[in-house]
Amino acid sequence: MKVKKLNRTFFQRALGRPATGLPENNDFWSLSDGKITLDLNQAPELLKPAGAVRLEGNLPVKVLVVHGEDGQYRAYENKCTHAGRRIDPVPGTETVQCCSLNCATFDLDGNKIAGPAKKTLKTYPVNVANGKLLIEIG
Ligand code: FES
Repeated sequence: MKVKKLNRTFFQRALGRPATGLPENNDFWSLSDGKITLDLNQAPELLKPAGAVRLEGNLPVKVLVVHGEDGQYRAYENKCTHAGRRIDPVPGTETVQCCSLNCATFDLDGNKIAGPAKKTLKTYPVNVANGKLLIEIG
């Protein structure tokens, strides 16, 4: 699989600044019994395929939620398995990529396809029901 690098500056990569932003507020999701319930109607970042959002704070792990170009939702632990930097989806590809200079790149199932990461990226089961995205983080 050919690897495309997300267009980021040297400084963004050196500082580990991900392309995916934090939401304006965190009112659209909650955590209970190891499950995140996210109201898709309140998440403009995820309305269109190729959108993504970071969920952080008040969670045991950082989570990246991606609405793939195939229409499927996916959730990842937002922690590159090389040295822990955050990851981003790469538009026009079926990959997610570390925001660091080393650009570890993973397929949509979290398998490493390029870069220094040794382990698979952790993914979480997701389910869509009644306009809600359920993410099982355990
Ligand atoms: S932290 Fe991701 S490639 Fe190094």
